[in-house]
Amino acid sequence: MDKKIHIFDTTLRDGEQVPGCQLNTIEKIEIARQLEKLGVDIIEAGFPISSPGDFNSVVEISKTVEKPVVCALTRAVDKDIEVAADSLKFAKRKRIHTGIGTSEFHIKNKLNSNREDILKRAVAAVKLSRKFVDDVEFYAEDAGRTENEYLARVIEAVIKAGATVVNIPDTTGYCLPAEYGEKIAYLLNNVPNIDKAVISTHCHNDLGMATANTLAGVINGARQVEVTMNGIGERAGNTSLEEVVMAMKSHHSLDYETGIDTRQIIRTSKLVSTLMRMPVQPNKAIVGRNAFAHSSGIHQDGVLKNRQNYEIIDPAEVGVKESAIVLTARSGRAALKHRLQIIGYDFDSDELEDVYNRFLDLADRKKDISDEDLEILAGREKKGKPPIELVSLQVMCGKSTIPTATVQVSFKGDVFTETASGNGPIDASFTAVKNLVKRRVRLEEFLIQAITRGSDDLGKVHVQIEHKGDNYYGFSAHTDIVTASVEAFLDALGKIS
Ligand code: KIV
Ligand code: ZN
Repeated sequence: MDKKIHIFDTTLRDGEQVPGCQLNTIEKIEIARQLEKLGVDIIEAGFPISSPGDFNSVVEISKTVEKPVVCALTRAVDKDIEVAADSLKFAKRKRIHTGIGTSEFHIKNKLNSNREDILKRAVAAVKLSRKFVDDVEFYAEDAGRTENEYLARVIEAVIKAGATVVNIPDTTGYCLPAEYGEKIAYLLNNVPNIDKAVISTHCHNDLGMATANTLAGVINGARQVEVTMNGIGERAGNTSLEEVVMAMKSHHSLDYETGIDTRQIIRTSKLVSTLMRMPVQPNKAIVGRNAFAHSSGIHQDGVLKNRQNYEIIDPAEVGVKESAIVLTARSGRAALKHRLQIIGYDFDSDELEDVYNRFLDLADRKKDISDEDLEILAGREKKGKPPIELVSLQVMCGKSTIPTATVQVSFKGDVFTETASGNGPIDASFTAVKNLVKRRVRLEEFLIQAITRGSDDLGKVHVQIEHKGDNYYGFSAHTDIVTASVEAFLDALGKIS
């Protein structure tokens, strides 16, 4: 059997049906261009009868893309088919995708019809479509819940009428993988003219099984898969393109080929997410921001020893530069050392132990540790311990409270404590420090660097003090801005000889 699996992308049709994800024509063209770069075989560009905007998008996408087949969706309704044919007039390669519900639910409750009538309408729709284009795909809506024998009759009839592709949608996402696979196998074995058409899967994710069902379909003989980028689509979404493609690529036992340039996956995912204003869940397979991120110490150590210990896909294969070692309170020394080396610090084991302890202290207060935070931790280590160290700091402040600070510092092995009040927590703390050190100093400059990356970020403080005509500079960073201020002040004081 042919190894080639045709990738039919319906991000711009089924994906775009999601409330709030509507795109204008320019945005659709941008996505279509990227899908062409990604290497999809068919782009379902829209449902032209549904709105003038959708019609126009199919026209413009038809003018834009060269290689992929451009496909337009219709119901089994003459007017739909005529309008779809018109919208495709500029396409280099074109397909009409027509169909009708075949399950008892759809026949009785939606179409208020019967099996024989549905069969006739299906055949008529395919015949009319073939008058406009050579490539006609037929979908048996809700095929997942359609009884196999009747489905086979419909499929045989539409192939006879000229359908080149037969789509077997699990419209409600109801099937189990084995059940869906058996359905495809049943059609392959029981439709006499099945060799004249390509069988297509179209699975929804209501029970989280869209990818598994699609693969079961392929294993049982389907040669086209209908997918969307990021799995976007009605309700729980459609099958994710990236999951199916990477599952086939990663499992050598699944000996299939696609035309997808997998290095374009992340770029496409981000474009779709941004333009559709639909964030990708962080733990989404392949394209989630955590898909290649390692935060536990054991995993980080394993990945640093050999990426394959915890990664089944090389991130570069899908366009991600490198796996992210996220430094958090659960990270170990190996990950910290690795990151420090990347940013240019090579510590011996004692120094590393010291940085690691301060790193853990910071990581307990702050979710992720950035390179900038590490620079601060590492920089302090290189400078050595300050001569005057802050042991503890207690401040009381707030509306209707006199700001008061109790500061405890250590100097040459002794610990000193002082309490003072001021016009704010920093002023009170500085006064307490000044009383302790008993030096005549003047604060010349005091700069708090704005927190830009969230309320748990490090606040950075630079101070300049004057003593007997000379200037001394101090710096510190801390998640507590008052602590950072006092430490910066002590840093500067410690430099007075
Ligand atoms: O889910 C479905 O059945 C569909 C068809 C219109 C192909 O999207
Ligand atoms: Zn669908």
